Amino acid sequence: MKLRAQSLLNTTATISREYSLSEHIVLYSGDCIDLLKSIPDDSIQLIVTSPPYNIGKEYEKKLDLAVYLQEQAQVIAECARVLSPRGSICWQVGNYVQKGAIVPLDAVLYPVFSNLSLKMRNRIIWHFEHGLHCSRRFSGRYETIVWYTKTDDYVFNLDPVRTPQKYPGKKHFKGPNAGQYSCNPLGKNPGDLWVIPNVKSNHVEKTEHPCQFPVELIERLVLSLTNEGDWVLDPFLGTGTTSIAAIRHGRRGAGAEIVQKYLDIARERIHQELDGTLRTRPMGRPVYDPVEARSKLTFAPWKEDPKQTALFERSPECTEAEDEDC
Ligand SMILES: C[S@@+](CC[C@H](N)C(=O)[O-])C[C@H]1O[C@@H](n2cnc3c(N)ncnc32)[C@H](O)[C@@H]1O
Repeated sequence: MKLRAQSLLNTTATISREYSLSEHIVLYSGDCIDLLKSIPDDSIQLIVTSPPYNIGKEYEKKLDLAVYLQEQAQVIAECARVLSPRGSICWQVGNYVQKGAIVPLDAVLYPVFSNLSLKMRNRIIWHFEHGLHCSRRFSGRYETIVWYTKTDDYVFNLDPVRTPQKYPGKKHFKGPNAGQYSCNPLGKNPGDLWVIPNVKSNHVEKTEHPCQFPVELIERLVLSLTNEGDWVLDPFLGTGTTSIAAIRHGRRGAGAEIVQKYLDIARERIHQELDGTLRTRPMGRPVYDPVEARSKLTFAPWKEDPKQTALFERSPECTEAEDEDC
């Protein structure tokens, strides 16, 4: 797949600063609204992004929720305009937090998408194990990807993203197919609960950006919701992960980023992807289990407290400082 992607791109592997249908990779320095305005109607097959959550990260100003939603609505309306009739929008979000109370952003954005007549196909739960430790509520260990389409005739390629069956040797035990294997030999539908490690300090893809997508998360969306040569757009590109996943699979990638240092990282990572040197966690690799791997750190030092010992035998934790947003 990767070789094919490179052969599609290597004659034209320049990174353009402006969008044009004939380009392959576009890195726009500036506000996504300006990039979107330069893209013709109905031309992008997949829009996948993780917008600012309005929680005061270094790249955003914390706004009143109504103002934030208005800004998001403007971007989403432009995305709907440029989306191809068979295309998809995947909006990856978590919670907005105000004085310790959480507001799930996919819930408050739902009316924005439905007012544009977009149809929700899945609300994917992305579960990960590392993050902030909360003291006044349970620590957040999932975010969502809400997937919308423009029409009922949308691209959905399941075979390239199937995952291993739980019981591949299982057979029909009665009926006309008795004795034959009952599962699809290509694997099973991955479902709508995706367990994929998030990009924290030990992750091979970690840059200085505080909230990167893991490449494998976006690869699954690119493979299932687009075909080779299609455009994939990320209006809030960050470190370029969406474009990397697109390029890897022979698609075209466009994105906007307002912070110059993230744009520089995106450019560098895209170059590394093109020359085959970008290190990423492979799609489909099982999540590391420190207990199964018999990591020394899973043996609790305080043997005298059986309650604690039991906890540590099954749940080794990463340590990260508490955050005021928790
Ligand atoms: C949640 S991060 C996305 C990270 C990205 N998914 C990745 O893998 O690196 C959101 C990004 O949007 C950028 N951003 C915020 N407002 C923007 C705007 N109006 N136009 C373009 N980029 C914007 C921020 O600087 C930040 O890097």
